[in-house]
Amino acid sequence: MAGNIEAAKKSDIDKWPPLEKTPYHVGIIMDGNGRWAKSKRLPRAAGHKQGAENLRQILESSVDFGIKILTIYAFSTENWNRPKAEVRGLMNLFDYYFGRELNELHKNGVQLRHIGQMAGIKPGMQDKIRRAVEETRNNQRLILNVAFNYGGRAEIVNAVRAIIKDGVLPEQVTDDLISQYLYTGGLPDPDLIIRTSGEFRISNFLIWQSAYAEYYITPTYWPNFNKDALYKALKAYSERNRRYGRVDQD
Ligand code: FPP
Repeated sequence: MAGNIEAAKKSDIDKWPPLEKTPYHVGIIMDGNGRWAKSKRLPRAAGHKQGAENLRQILESSVDFGIKILTIYAFSTENWNRPKAEVRGLMNLFDYYFGRELNELHKNGVQLRHIGQMAGIKPGMQDKIRRAVEETRNNQRLILNVAFNYGGRAEIVNAVRAIIKDGVLPEQVTDDLISQYLYTGGLPDPDLIIRTSGEFRISNFLIWQSAYAEYYITPTYWPNFNKDALYKALKAYSERNRRYGRVDQD
């Protein structure tokens, strides 16, 4: 048995050799569920279901590769404008995730957080989200931020309102202060943003936080974005040279 485990570990290391640098915080725009379904002549709902299924292996793989924070774009403030039946299907999936799947997440040491506006989410779902966040708050293996009813501009607007309400003086407003007032307050900014399905857009996702993030775009549809694909993204990141506006030192 032990030999088997070692053999498995060794083949893992051959397959996914340790990288020189691993991003601490990764954001993912999980795009392409609809096109994946279409390519298989399935309804869009089947694409979302497969997308949700895929999340499980990406969570596990993220832990394996040493990622500490994963922020996923699950539902934007604009996604309410999709056909009613599709929105309903997506809500059922989230309901399942924040409900029954929660035990699994909890057992695996995942700390669930919600980023986005609570207002606009059905009260029953709000309760589920609060409970999931509360129950997993001490878990340390991976922080999973679920961007749900999320919009980056709305996040900044909320922050500015709260800053004004708190009576902060103009000269006290700094980059750091604004960061603290965002939904992600207290967490480091994302190092890497991955977008699947080949679109070169940020779509209102973490627009403040990703000012210095590296971007990685792959044509792979989200339901097909597996552990190998994640490794490829991390490898590309590890080969990048982040300069934060500075020049290289020789
Ligand atoms: C984009 O694909 C995907 C979404 C709008 C929803 C993302 C949701 C999931 C992956 C479901 C599971 C998530 C959780 C947290 C349970 P698209 O419909 O825009 O695809 P298309 O651009 O090909 O039409």
